[in-house]
Amino acid sequence: MDQLGELKRSVYCGLVDESLVKRRVTVMGWVDRRRDLGGLVFLDLRDHEGIVQVVVRSESSLLLETTKEIRPEFVLAVTGDVVMRDEETINPEVATGRVEILAREIRVLNTSDTPPFPITEGVTASQETRLRYRFLDLRRRRLQHNIRLRHRVSCKIRNFLDQQGFLEIETPLLTRSTPEGARDYLVPSRLHGGHFYALPQSPQLFKQLLMISGFDRYFQIARCFRDEDLRADRQPEFTQVDIELAYPQMEDIFELVESLLVGVFKSAGVDITSPFPRLTHAEALARYGTDRPDTRFGLELVDVSEAFQETSFQIFQGILQKGGQIKGIRVPGGASYSRKQLDGLSDQLDLRLSWLKVTAEGLKSSFPKAVPAGELEQIKEAGQLGEGDIFLMAAGSNIDTLLGDLRLHVAEKEDLIPSDEYAFLWIYDFPLVQWDDNEERYMACNHPFTSPHEEDIALLETDPARVRARAYDVVLNGTEIGGGSIRIHQKELQQRVFRVLGMESEEAEDKFGFLLEALGFGAPPHGGIALGLDRLVMLLAGEDSIRDVIAFPKTARALDLMCRAPSLVSEKQLSELHIRVDTATDTD
Ligand code: AMO
Repeated sequence: MDQLGELKRSVYCGLVDESLVKRRVTVMGWVDRRRDLGGLVFLDLRDHEGIVQVVVRSESSLLLETTKEIRPEFVLAVTGDVVMRDEETINPEVATGRVEILAREIRVLNTSDTPPFPITEGVTASQETRLRYRFLDLRRRRLQHNIRLRHRVSCKIRNFLDQQGFLEIETPLLTRSTPEGARDYLVPSRLHGGHFYALPQSPQLFKQLLMISGFDRYFQIARCFRDEDLRADRQPEFTQVDIELAYPQMEDIFELVESLLVGVFKSAGVDITSPFPRLTHAEALARYGTDRPDTRFGLELVDVSEAFQETSFQIFQGILQKGGQIKGIRVPGGASYSRKQLDGLSDQLDLRLSWLKVTAEGLKSSFPKAVPAGELEQIKEAGQLGEGDIFLMAAGSNIDTLLGDLRLHVAEKEDLIPSDEYAFLWIYDFPLVQWDDNEERYMACNHPFTSPHEEDIALLETDPARVRARAYDVVLNGTEIGGGSIRIHQKELQQRVFRVLGMESEEAEDKFGFLLEALGFGAPPHGGIALGLDRLVMLLAGEDSIRDVIAFPKTARALDLMCRAPSLVSEKQLSELHIRVDTATDTD
């Protein structure tokens, strides 16, 4: 092996091009491939900019000897002359494909064990192996691109918010738990036996306190921790672009986030238009069956209850009498679905589907013969069905969410979702609270610091489920990329909301005494939002999982396979922390 000595890199491998022909360069990087044609050796050398071809010719026998030991992922420094390739060996596919480096000196700066998988794009190694060797997986072009994109997005956001007068302020990681609906990660205190810090689920309360302290416009690119079931768009630790401002109208926050996102997307080469469309929570549920609709495609839910007002079809009659609905989606071209396919759909989604097809021979449906043709015609009209279409229907009192799932399923199956579009949407007017049967109390839909609509405050004690919250989410292609609200800034109102949530004054005082106290010292009206940075970058990078835009992510079971965390700790550490463990199972 050789030493680096005083040698300096003069250019990145991937940037060696025709402009450097006849120049002597020094490149450094990993061996991607070595081809030995006997008396002529080709080495592909890689860095994050790309790959350059190095040639070692027979006249330099000493160099040829050096190359014998070289294997993939060895680290080399190569000094040589840039020359044009022979016409027949030009590779127009790569930026460096017209040139090669004629090696004059090769230093082997490090060797490499045989990697567990080749560092190429079509890697077939299992997800576990790749996470175990994350440092190698990160060498691949795709992940390099994603992590670099993430950096650019963060820089853009910081600059934008700085220009808008926002201050970046760090808030504690060792704190007290703030309920956001997930479990906390707890950190035991050594100095105070039996007491625990919680890692923040978000900096929510601190940013509110900063408004009370007069910082007026705050932001933080903040790490948050939530111990919840993981999915492709959820990690136990993730990053929020957390924003708060004093005296805002909801409109100000919408405009701020829209111009932030327009700038971020522009910096990634994507033009998006603002303002984003807006839907109330109720409207989103009624039209798309979800509060985070993907609006890149239609298939909207249509209410056809009207067509069955006078129906003799008893099942529907019963459902309508109980205040239920009959709704469905029109699938263009779906008349060709076979009965088997339709049964398959019902089974997969656990949904009793009825259907109506418009065929050249007339209307066909799953209804019994007794349902008159007039009713079917009405559905055809309401659903705006043309020849070749099918209308898939469900009936019941809570069918929106099920139909929302059906809508997504059909869109995916029929390939109706354009992958190169970005459909943004604001959802607002969420309910403030909803009844939880398990807890037997009202729970905050957002968090307990969200302000009710001023005109709904009177309903707080009498009909809490009807109170609208001044809360909003920003949705992109069916993923919630951010959520926020106008907050409660008056102590009394906060106490009332705690009471509605079943929290007696003593408990409220114990958990949130500091907030209540602070609200009592002239808290200005304030509000804000937090954007999920990981989700945003995931969508920009065209990835399906936020794991692919986080340098060192965890598995779906919250494990770090590389460091092997979480891990057992020594008895000594435990006893210092005043902890006795009942049962410990090593999950590795
Ligand atoms: P919320 O809980 O909606 O709001 O979180 C804001 C955004 O953070 C992202 N997010 C996640 N991303 C990855 N993994 C997770 N486990 C995860 N959980 C949430 C989502 C989400 O929209 N304090 C409030 C914000 C506020 O009111 O200002 C909050 O945390 O993109």
